[in-house]
Amino acid sequence: MAQTYHIITFGCQMNKNDSEHLAGMLEFNGAKHTAEPEAADILVLNTCAVRDKAERRVYGQLAKYNFLRQKNNSGQKLFLSGCMPAYNKTELQKAAPFLDGFLDIEEARQYPPRRENSPEVWVTIMQGCNNFCAYCIVPRARGRERSRTAEDILAEINKIDFTGRAVLFLLGQNVNSYAGTFNGQPLSFPALLQLILTKCPAVPKLAFLTSHPKDMTDALLEVIAREPRIDRELHLPAQSGSDRILALMNRGYTAAQYRALTARIRARAPDVQLSTDIIAGFPTETEAEFEDSCRLVRETGFFRVNTAGYSARRGTAAAQMPRLEQKIVDARLNKINQLINSLKSAHT
Ligand code: SAH
Ligand code: SF4
Ligand code: F3S
Repeated sequence: MAQTYHIITFGCQMNKNDSEHLAGMLEFNGAKHTAEPEAADILVLNTCAVRDKAERRVYGQLAKYNFLRQKNNSGQKLFLSGCMPAYNKTELQKAAPFLDGFLDIEEARQYPPRRENSPEVWVTIMQGCNNFCAYCIVPRARGRERSRTAEDILAEINKIDFTGRAVLFLLGQNVNSYAGTFNGQPLSFPALLQLILTKCPAVPKLAFLTSHPKDMTDALLEVIAREPRIDRELHLPAQSGSDRILALMNRGYTAAQYRALTARIRARAPDVQLSTDIIAGFPTETEAEFEDSCRLVRETGFFRVNTAGYSARRGTAAAQMPRLEQKIVDARLNKINQLINSLKSAHT
């Protein structure tokens, strides 16, 4: 009888897309999907390492399913994939010696995805990150930037059946620093967008995640403004509204430059709505610097703001900086979340 598998996915859209490739790899090897994690012969946890909380969630699920497979004497195989094993395999093996192994994303990407049935469909165009923001584990988990060729990307898109799909998401840790090729010639991100819109008429709407403010070129704004098929929701993580903190974070822009960019976007494409990410309680952040982040949120008018309390990640530059007390981090996170909620209710 064929083996069954189930994949539990943590983290970002990229991980969701990776899970589709993991599923494709398992199916290529004869396994069949089951909706029941407990009943699966092969259970994969595709993990996220971005914050301590994300890792704790994975450890919790690992313990749960290890307990269940022992209790049921099911012989289930338990595998880990994604960003946690990518940067601390040895520690994981120590903490969870009962694991049956690790599944490699690069290998899984060689297999066609088994796509989720959702209005969103995902295609990864670049992986990795060269930015080394001081707080972030992603460059360590995902490695340096690698862009796929336009030929590869177009071939993948042309295989997608867009019936019932509302939007194609192009994914990358730093999507707008895409630097691929087409016909052997260098190809920029805006040129790739244009190419996809021209060559793939079946694509209903085109969106992309995640853009770095420092890579929002005029050429990119031009394409967004010109092309109604590009999604009007643009995610542009600010992380902080304080220049000193932004410099410590190694973000490569000041608060004024970020504000000028949002103004430039609104002038060029007034129907674009912005969302952002803010980290509260970065090491050494003062109350006044935290208020700068609140002011940025109040004054920019985002349609969504994702917030997180700073979480130290081993091996990152910020992990060497003096940390704030956890209760200060928690209080600031609470405060900015309240601000965001009050802005929301003021709108509706
Ligand atoms: N490549 C994307 C996403 C990175 S991770 C980008 O550059 O924006 C997604 C979000 O998690 C980040 O935008 C940041 O706000 C948050 N984040 C990353 N590392 C964190 C940490 N150590 N502590 C708290 N939040 C963090
Ligand atoms: Fe992390 Fe910064 Fe790279 Fe985003 S741009 S993945 S926050 S290092
Ligand atoms: Fe995504 Fe989490 Fe990795 S946000 S890139 S799965 S650390």
